[in-house]
Amino acid sequence: MRRGTIAHLDPAAPSDSTVRRSFPEKRTTIAHLDPAALRGSCTVVVGCQWGDEGKGKVVDVLAERADLIARYQGGANAGHTVYQREEQFILHQVPSGILHPGKRCLLGNGVVVDPVQLFAEIDNLAGRGIETRGRIGVSARAHVVFPWHVALDNAAERAARRRIGTTGRGIGPAYEAKTGRRGVRIADLLDPARGRERVGRGIEWARRRLRELGADPDDAGTIDDALAVTGRLPEVAADVGEEIAAALAGGKGVLLEGAQGTALDVDHGTYPFVTSSNTTAGAAAVGSGIGPTAIDAVVGVAKAYTTRVGNGPLPTAFDSEMDALVRDLGGEFGATTGRPRRCGWFDAPVVRYAARVNGLTGIAITKLDVLDTLPELRIATGYRLRGDAGVPFPACSWQLQEVEPIYEVLPGWRSPTTEARAVADLPRNARAYLHRIEELVEAPIAMISVGARRSQVIRAD
Ligand code: IMP
Repeated sequence: MRRGTIAHLDPAAPSDSTVRRSFPEKRTTIAHLDPAALRGSCTVVVGCQWGDEGKGKVVDVLAERADLIARYQGGANAGHTVYQREEQFILHQVPSGILHPGKRCLLGNGVVVDPVQLFAEIDNLAGRGIETRGRIGVSARAHVVFPWHVALDNAAERAARRRIGTTGRGIGPAYEAKTGRRGVRIADLLDPARGRERVGRGIEWARRRLRELGADPDDAGTIDDALAVTGRLPEVAADVGEEIAAALAGGKGVLLEGAQGTALDVDHGTYPFVTSSNTTAGAAAVGSGIGPTAIDAVVGVAKAYTTRVGNGPLPTAFDSEMDALVRDLGGEFGATTGRPRRCGWFDAPVVRYAARVNGLTGIAITKLDVLDTLPELRIATGYRLRGDAGVPFPACSWQLQEVEPIYEVLPGWRSPTTEARAVADLPRNARAYLHRIEELVEAPIAMISVGARRSQVIRAD
C-alpha cells in the first residue's frame, strides 16, 4: 500500500521486494513439472541460447492466461514462428500473443520499430482473418528503424574484416543511433516539423557514414520516402509502461516477450558476435517501462539441443553429417533470413549461465521430439580450456571458440514423443534426459514442447 507520509520510513519496502525475489525452491526431478515457476501476474519469457529457442510457441501457450503481451527489445531481426491450427504465422515485429483474440499486444520502448515491417505484418494478419484493430500499441519512446539503418547494416557487413552475420534488418545502426542520441523516436514523429528535422539529420549522418564504408550515399533514401513509411505510426502510439502498470494494478496478467537469446545479449553474450540489445530478463523492465519488482516469474526457453545462426563460436557443434540430419529433423532454417542454422548437442554451461543471468524461476524445453529417432545423445556438462576442466562460460568469444566440451552420453528413446501431454507419457530415457538437463542447469522444468502445434505441450499447470 502506498503511504503518503514521511512520519516514519516504511519497513515493508525491503521485505516486500525480498518476497518477490524469493524464487521457488530448486527442484531437480522431472517426476512432475513445477507450477510455481509460472505463477504470478507478470512473467518474462527469455531465450537461454542463441535465439530460435521456440519463444514464440511458449508465449503463444502462456498467452492463453495473459491479458497483455509486450515485447521489450530487438526488432524485425526476430522471427517467431507460431501455429494456429495448421496455419503457420511468422512474426517479426508483432508479439506472438496476437493470435489470441482480444489480447492487447504492445511494443515497448526497448524495441526498435521498423514501420514497413510492422504494418506489412499487421495488414497480413488482417488479411488472414486476425483482427488487430485497437489491439496493437507501440511505445512513443521506441526508436524507429529507417531504410538508412538497413543500408548501413549491410554496408558495414560488406566492409567488415570480421563479419557478424547480422540479419540485415538495420538493428545495430538503429541502436547505435539511440545510444549516440541521434535516433528518431515515435514521439518525434508525432510532431511533423520535429519529425522532418530529426529524419533529415539522420539521413545526413547516414550519407556521410555510407560514403566512409564505400557504399552509395543515396542508399540512405530521402526524407519524403522515410516519412511516407511512418505515416501510420501515430495511430498505434501508446504509453506502454503506463498500460502495463495499469493492467497489473487491475489484477491482469502480463507477459513480457524477449527476442533473440542470452548468448546474443550485447553484455552477457558472445561479444562481439551478438545482437545490439540486452536480450536478458533484466532488460524486460527497462524495455517495457516498469520497475523490476513488478516481475513475478522468469521463464527461460531452451531447445533440447543447440542451434546458432550467424557467425561466432558454437562449442557443441555437430559434425557435418549430424548437423545435416538434425537441421532437417528440426527444420533449422532462420525464420527471418532463411539461413541454415548450425546445430549441436545440448550445451548445459550456456543454459546454466542463462539461468543465473536471467534469474530463471523455470525453464521450458522445446523441440524434444526432434531427438526422437537418435540412438544416443550427448550433453555438454562443462568445458575444458587448455587442459583446465570446469571453466565457466567465458567472457571472451575467442576462449569459447577454443573450449572443448566435456560430454556425457545418454541413451536415446527411439519412440515418438509428439503425442505426450504429461510427463508420465514420455519414454523413460526422455525423462532421464530432461532430468539430467534440470540437474545441470539448476532450474526447474516448467514446460516441455513436443511439436509445433499449440496442443503439443506438457505444462506444469
Ligand atoms: P542483428 O541482430 O541482425 O544485428 O544480428 C546480430 C547477430 O544476432 C547475428 O548473429 C544474427 O544471426 C543474430 N540474430 C539476430 N536476431 C536473431 C534471432 O531472432 N534469432 C537468432 N539469431 C538472431
